[in-house]
Amino acid sequence: MAEIIVVPTPADAGRLAGAAIADLIARRPDAVLGVATGSTPLPVYDDLQHRLAGVDVSRVRAFALDEYVGIDRDHAESYHSIIHHQVTVPLGLDPDLVQVPDGQADDLERAALDYDAAIRASGGIDLQLLGIGSDGHIGFNEPGSSFASRTRVKTLTPQTRQDNARFFPSVDDVPLHALTQGLGTILEARHLVLLAFGEAKAEAVALALEGPLTARVPATAIHLHPHCTVIVDEVAAAHLADRAFYDYVYTNKPDWQGI
Ligand code: PGA
Repeated sequence: MAEIIVVPTPADAGRLAGAAIADLIARRPDAVLGVATGSTPLPVYDDLQHRLAGVDVSRVRAFALDEYVGIDRDHAESYHSIIHHQVTVPLGLDPDLVQVPDGQADDLERAALDYDAAIRASGGIDLQLLGIGSDGHIGFNEPGSSFASRTRVKTLTPQTRQDNARFFPSVDDVPLHALTQGLGTILEARHLVLLAFGEAKAEAVALALEGPLTARVPATAIHLHPHCTVIVDEVAAAHLADRAFYDYVYTNKPDWQGI
C-alpha cells in the first residue's frame, strides 16, 4: 500500500518531502529528480531552498512532468519558465541538466519519444514529485489515460482548464493541449511522492487512495507502484475513510525507514 501521511499544513509536507530529496542528493549527488509545477510543490521547493544552501547540487538532474502545447517557452506560464524560476534558479541547479518537454516542437510525437528516451538515458528518475488534479489527473494524464501510457500529447479537460485559469487572463487563454509524461513513464520512477492540499483535492484524494483502480481516476495508478508516499494536509484528508489506520501505520513506522 502507498504510505499515507496526514500533516497539519502544506509547510509540514514541504519539510517531509524536502528532507527526503535532500537525503537522496546526499546519498547520490547526481540524483535525477522528477519535478512538478502548480501550487502544490511550492512548499517543497521553499523547504529545499534552505536545506540545499551550501550543498553541491551541480550534478543533480531534473525532468519536468509536462508542458503546455501552444504557448511560447518564454511565456511566463510555460512550464519551462515556471520550472526555471521556481526550481532551477532557487535550488541552484545547472540549467543544462534540467529538462522540460518541448511543447513547441514541430513534431510533438518525436519530442515525446525523445523525452522518454532522455529519462531512460539518465538512468531513470529517482524521486518524482506529483500533485493531483481535482479530476484525479497526475501530470496531465486526464481521466481515461492508459496506465501504460508514455509521454504524449493530451487534451486538457474543461475542469483542468478551469482549475488553471487563475494563471491566465481567462479560461480561454489556458492551452487546450499539453505534452505530458505518461502514467507508464511516471510509474518507472523509483519513488513517487504525491502531495495534495486543500478542500478542492479532498474528493480526488479519497478516490485515488480508497476507490477502485480505474483509468477514470488516473492517480489510482500509484497503487501499481512499489514505493509511493502520499502526503496530504488535514483538509485534503477529510474524505478518507481509513484515516485512523494511516495514522496508526505512520506512528508505528520502524525508525530506520525514511519516507
Ligand atoms: P495544483 O495542480 O498543484 O496547482 O493544484 C496540481 C495538478 O493539477 O496536478
